[in-house]
Amino acid sequence: MTMTTSLDLFGDDDTAQSGREAIGPQSFVLRGFALPFAEALLQGVDTVAAQSPFRRMQTPGGYTMSVALTNCGQWGWTTDAHGYRYTRIDPLSGLPWPDLPSAFLELAQAAAAGAGFPGFAPDACLVNQYEPGSRLSLHQDKNERDYGAPIVSVSLGMPALFLFGGHERSDKTVRVPLLHGDVVVWGGVDRLRYHGVMPMKDLPHPRLGSRRINFTLRKAGESAGPV
Ligand code: SIN
Ligand code: FE2
Repeated sequence: MTMTTSLDLFGDDDTAQSGREAIGPQSFVLRGFALPFAEALLQGVDTVAAQSPFRRMQTPGGYTMSVALTNCGQWGWTTDAHGYRYTRIDPLSGLPWPDLPSAFLELAQAAAAGAGFPGFAPDACLVNQYEPGSRLSLHQDKNERDYGAPIVSVSLGMPALFLFGGHERSDKTVRVPLLHGDVVVWGGVDRLRYHGVMPMKDLPHPRLGSRRINFTLRKAGESAGPV
């Protein structure tokens, strides 16, 4: 006789039990997690961009990024001819980066906890804006001083194909479709995995049109580079 319990039904399928999809031992997609906060988050993005506008930065190799970026929080990620680093001051405005909107912080802490990283205390948030054709080549997030904290990545607007690889650039990648409201969290043994975004198709979103906003919350650390 077969007895079906919920445990038998779900087996070790993490998705069925918790609504989160595992893409690594300590990496999860939380589908629609940000949807209830979307309006507050978009207001936060507008407030940040009013003070520190989106801009396309140069890489040390002299390439102009197709993604436009800004930051909020104590530390902001920047790149120019001299390299990648975190700064306290926005080089464009000459002022400190805008405060982290409270909705960003609350969402990030809840998402991190849901992915097994309680007590996340981000001090940096990189906000990326994608247009059709924008892409982000495979990279590791490794300018932070504290790899003990996860990365929390929130997607709004147009859908994207997120690439999630391994610890070597040449490792195989999986393509993860990310929709408005999806949140990805990676940390622990997965903290330094390569990731990127495929060239964006023009699939306009009802609220954001031909734009995708992604913001990633990080713990850059107290001594995260020159001021
Ligand atoms: C990033 O790696 O900074 C952004 C990832 C994304 O846009 O989904
Ligand atoms: Fe990244």
